[in-house]
Amino acid sequence: MQTSLTFPTVGIIGAGAMGRGIAQIAAQAGSQVLLFDTQPEAGAKAQAAIAAQWDKLQDKGRLSAEAVAGHKARLQVATALPELADCDLVVEAIVERLDVKQRLFAELEAIVQPSAVLVTNTSSLSVTAIAAGLKQPQRFAGYHFFNPVPLMKVVEVIAGLKTDAAVCARLADYARQMGHTPVQAQDTPGFIVNHAGRGYGTEALRIVSEGVADFATVDRILRDQVGFKLGPFELFDLTALDVSHPVMESIYQQYYQEPRYRPSVITAQRLAGGVVGKKAGEGFYRYVDGAAQVAAEPPAPQVEALPPVWVSPRAARRAELLQLLKDLGASIETGASPSPVALTLVAPLGFDVTTVAVVERLDPARTVGIDMLIDDAATKRRVLATNPATRADMRDAAHALFARDGKPVSVIRDSGGFVTQRVVAAIVNIAADICQQRVCSPKDLETAVTLGLGYPLGPLAMGDRWGPTNVLEVLFNLQTVYGDPRYRPSPWLRRRGAIGLSLMHEEE
Ligand code: NAI
Repeated sequence: MQTSLTFPTVGIIGAGAMGRGIAQIAAQAGSQVLLFDTQPEAGAKAQAAIAAQWDKLQDKGRLSAEAVAGHKARLQVATALPELADCDLVVEAIVERLDVKQRLFAELEAIVQPSAVLVTNTSSLSVTAIAAGLKQPQRFAGYHFFNPVPLMKVVEVIAGLKTDAAVCARLADYARQMGHTPVQAQDTPGFIVNHAGRGYGTEALRIVSEGVADFATVDRILRDQVGFKLGPFELFDLTALDVSHPVMESIYQQYYQEPRYRPSVITAQRLAGGVVGKKAGEGFYRYVDGAAQVAAEPPAPQVEALPPVWVSPRAARRAELLQLLKDLGASIETGASPSPVALTLVAPLGFDVTTVAVVERLDPARTVGIDMLIDDAATKRRVLATNPATRADMRDAAHALFARDGKPVSVIRDSGGFVTQRVVAAIVNIAADICQQRVCSPKDLETAVTLGLGYPLGPLAMGDRWGPTNVLEVLFNLQTVYGDPRYRPSPWLRRRGAIGLSLMHEEE
């Protein structure tokens, strides 16, 4: 088994969270692994922790006693860097500092064989910059794993400016031998996953900062409407802001203040205050015994007599909306304009309810918006938006009506694009820009995001599912509402809008 391995002997430098995980899967693949750390006890501690993992897997019946004994025998601790002299591959997973990493690789280059491959697990530094001082930068690449390594089955293989393509191909082969899926990325800020991940949290922060909805409501909407496992604020709490806020800042700065990646003062302030997330006992949520404390949702209002409903002819998914209203037992007006008592429904894409009421000459006091980007049957929640003039009785009537079949309803304040439209459009647009910049192939983008971020769909498939032209319309209109270049559609999205985003052949 070992002779067929691309890298039979692997050195790992840095025995922290990442080094441990990489050492574990490399030994499991059958490589001899040498683990080195400058902290005297760190190597031995990591070795014991990995051995304990294997023992646990054996107890669960997932590994045989022989396999565990073999893995343990292959994992050894090195006490000095020169012991890595015969490694075929050396993976660096030390502190995230350019000068320290450069110094380490300069030292290492003098120790290892000329044929050895050297890789960094950096998540935010430039692979090209780390390789800059090397004599043989062609054998150097990025090999970016995710935490926890044994469970996060994707690794980004990153070519620096001078990396030999054959080196990346060998790293991809070895990733598969370790049971991981490799994706190929250009050396750009955030590579694929941390770049693609900018749409979700950043747009959600923007929505909360505008007072459109509170963070718990935003979490509920994105979980229930789109199918994300965790809402963006639950995710911030889990990752912790001391990790995620610097990533947001770093990608924004590295892309020279590209507005799409603009971080938020909300996370800057919370980080400064130490309210960083679950590990601190308090983040966006408070935690008691590890469980987030979430206030119950207010029940739907009780309304005795519901007014008739009139639906704007320009509503998105109008036929579906009318069918839904019928199913809910609403009395639907069919006139060219609403009667003086009608609840007036609009379903804009990207525009805010106020603008629609003004443009369509509707009475804003009776106008309520509903988000129809995603078809109702595919969602577990309905989202309504009021405008500043909406009367409380009209808001309550709409809420009660749409809650009639028991589906939860959130009522948010007026904003261009509701919550789901804004967040989905931001994710799809950033993904399109990743394709435009050729950071990776569309196929690798989808793989990296589903495995690395756990999204229910790849971002391009998400765009296709809810309609590329709808997403484009949301972006165009958000740009009009906000006058903010962050909503400028990527040229790639504009070109693909009419034909679909996940068509891969052109890029292969
Ligand atoms: P960590 O702090 O858990 O472990 C780093 C280890 O490196 C420590 O044991 C430290 O003693 C050792 N170390 C520091 N300088 C050293 C040197 N010059 N020579 C040998 N050992 C040295 O850090 P973690 O989280 O494992 O991260 C390591 C690298 O992986 C960083 O570059 C980080 O950006 C990257 N990364 C981290 C991820 C994460 O979620 N923690 C995800 C992906 C990449």
